[in-house]
Amino acid sequence: MKKSSIIILLTLTIISCKDVINEIPQNPFQTTPYNFNYNTSLLPPPRIPADNPITIEGVQLGRMLFYDPILSSDSSQSCSSCHNQKNAFTDNNQQFSVGVEGTIGKRNSMAIFNLMWHIDGFFWDGRSNLLRHQAIEPIIDETEMNETIDHVITKLNRSSLYKENLQKAFPETTFNEEIIGKALEQFMLSIISSDSKFDRVMLGLESFTDEEKTGQVIFNSEAITLQNEVDPNNPQNFGADCFHCHGNSLFMRREFLANGLSDNGDKGLGGVTGDPRDDYKFKTTSLRNIEKTAPYMHDGRFKTLEEVVQFYLSDMNASSAVDLSNSPNLHALKDSVYLSPEHKKALVAFLKTLTDESLLTNEKYSSPF
Ligand code: HEC
Ligand code: HEC
Repeated sequence: MKKSSIIILLTLTIISCKDVINEIPQNPFQTTPYNFNYNTSLLPPPRIPADNPITIEGVQLGRMLFYDPILSSDSSQSCSSCHNQKNAFTDNNQQFSVGVEGTIGKRNSMAIFNLMWHIDGFFWDGRSNLLRHQAIEPIIDETEMNETIDHVITKLNRSSLYKENLQKAFPETTFNEEIIGKALEQFMLSIISSDSKFDRVMLGLESFTDEEKTGQVIFNSEAITLQNEVDPNNPQNFGADCFHCHGNSLFMRREFLANGLSDNGDKGLGGVTGDPRDDYKFKTTSLRNIEKTAPYMHDGRFKTLEEVVQFYLSDMNASSAVDLSNSPNLHALKDSVYLSPEHKKALVAFLKTLTDESLLTNEKYSSPF
């Protein structure tokens, strides 16, 4: 080798060493902001936690954790076992989910999408305020994954795959509870549903059938009875009052409400706050993708949407708590709300336009393994 080339080589090595030494402390990791791709004209502006910005790397780490049975005590169960993408991230038609020990929980699994717009209250009874704290609960719940956080942390720190992905996503070099929660929070916040037939109709890209249109009117109208003078041909006269509690483009009220279900011993929000005024109030879930999330209600008591509609029209329990201001007529007219079999069918047909096939199949939300 010529002398001059040795000098050049040496200089290059020095320069590159210098670069590396300078870079490590200054810029240990570089994250890429996550690009939310949804119909912003239909859904409210994003609500992202200031202390957990959503990044491509963070979402990827959360997605791995969500689909990995490493979070459960016997490595048999992941979050996706009870939150299956093809059922809008609910359980597989199970009334109650079965945990790793074969124990059965007491509530129906909940859908995971559009969580960015939920009130800061998770679970049917709102007992968890932050999504990142919620995400830890199923891991340590003995009727679910029945694992300890310390053991999960040990397992993750042992894995070179997880260490590599951790370093891409967070400044921390080892796992801790906060990071596991934040990564799961990022992945769950990235799951968005805004491409149902309903959305495409709103954007003028598709149209409702006559039946779906009738169902939409019924959904968005107040209930009245045949005793009033009504035009039997005008569906507006046969409202089902659904919009009071499931209105707006999210199809949910960001509130805990009592919808008049008969008492099964579960006090919902009241069990958490201890305030009797909160008794029997539950999270008012979104009706988006409702076709895919049977069975229904916090205890999965109804198997079909037809049963749910029948409940609202005739069985809203007069004696149990019910939010009257939100269902004035539905409740008052109990047993006398008139909706013909065709109108009930139309209401269900409208609810089915809220199914978003792209949510159920989008690879971004599926297992990374
Ligand atoms: C054994 C089944 C099971 C497993 C495993 C499971 N969940 Fe759940 N999940 C449920 C049930 C049941 C509920 C409702 C529980 C309640 O309200 O008390 C729920 C509720 C939730 C909610 C609340 C949604 C809302 O709108 O308030 C989120 C978010 C969630 N789970 C995420 C997760 C994550 C993340 C994991 C993995 C770390 C996980 N779940 C593991 C069954 C499960
Ligand atoms: C007073 C407010 C209120 C009104 C009016 C109302 N809902 Fe609900 N709805 C709720 C609440 C609260 C829940 C959750 C209750 C529970 O599980 O304990 C719920 C749950 C549901 C569920 C089950 C959701 C799930 O994730 O399992 C469906 C389906 C539903 N409602 C459809 C309707 C339809 C259709 C109408 C009109 C006929 C309607 N609701 C009217 C408050 C209301």
